[in-house]
Amino acid sequence: MDEDVSRVLVNANEIKDRVAELAEEIDRDYLGQKLLLVGVLRGAFVFLADIAKKLKGRFIFDFISASSYGPVGTESSGSVKLLKGITDPVDGLDVLVVDDILDTGATLSFVTGYMRSKGAKSVKICTLLNKPDRRKVPINADYLGFTIPDEFVVGYGLGYNGEYRNLPYVGVLKDSVWKS
Ligand code: IMP
Ligand code: MG
Repeated sequence: MDEDVSRVLVNANEIKDRVAELAEEIDRDYLGQKLLLVGVLRGAFVFLADIAKKLKGRFIFDFISASSYGPVGTESSGSVKLLKGITDPVDGLDVLVVDDILDTGATLSFVTGYMRSKGAKSVKICTLLNKPDRRKVPINADYLGFTIPDEFVVGYGLGYNGEYRNLPYVGVLKDSVWKS
């Protein structure tokens, strides 16, 4: 375990098994349809890659960059900025937005609205994690890995000041790291 992590919340094996189950569910639900997977940078990149490798159906990828955080810290600012939008046509496509975590809900509510405004036929959400205690916008994931308590976590794509995204598990960051 990384020295900056106080405990592991979801280990690599649990993630692997859950990712496989989610991919099966997605394949079943979108059978015969061509899906557009939209990853929300940067937190989604590990989860999106792992889930995509497990999918058997037809799909294409794109990425969006939206941020509800300032450049530093653990507290969401609530306002979402679109840093990189979608450039390819979305009209008539079924879209699955993939992200690391549903926290206040501001980011995914913004991103799903944006995809609808681009003409998506349907828009659903797949997130690895959910922190329901923090929700400010009423929004749920259609595909969800794990519900976790209100603690700041890192790993498997989730970062703190850009670091720790490569950890193979989801762990709680030590208070001493983000309060120092
Ligand atoms: P929301 O807009 O508040 O739902 O925030 C969503 C984004 O904040 C996620 O996509 C993450 O990038 C980031 N985030 C929220 N909670 C955590 C956390 O515990 N660790 C790392 N990033 C987080
Ligand atoms: Mg994010």
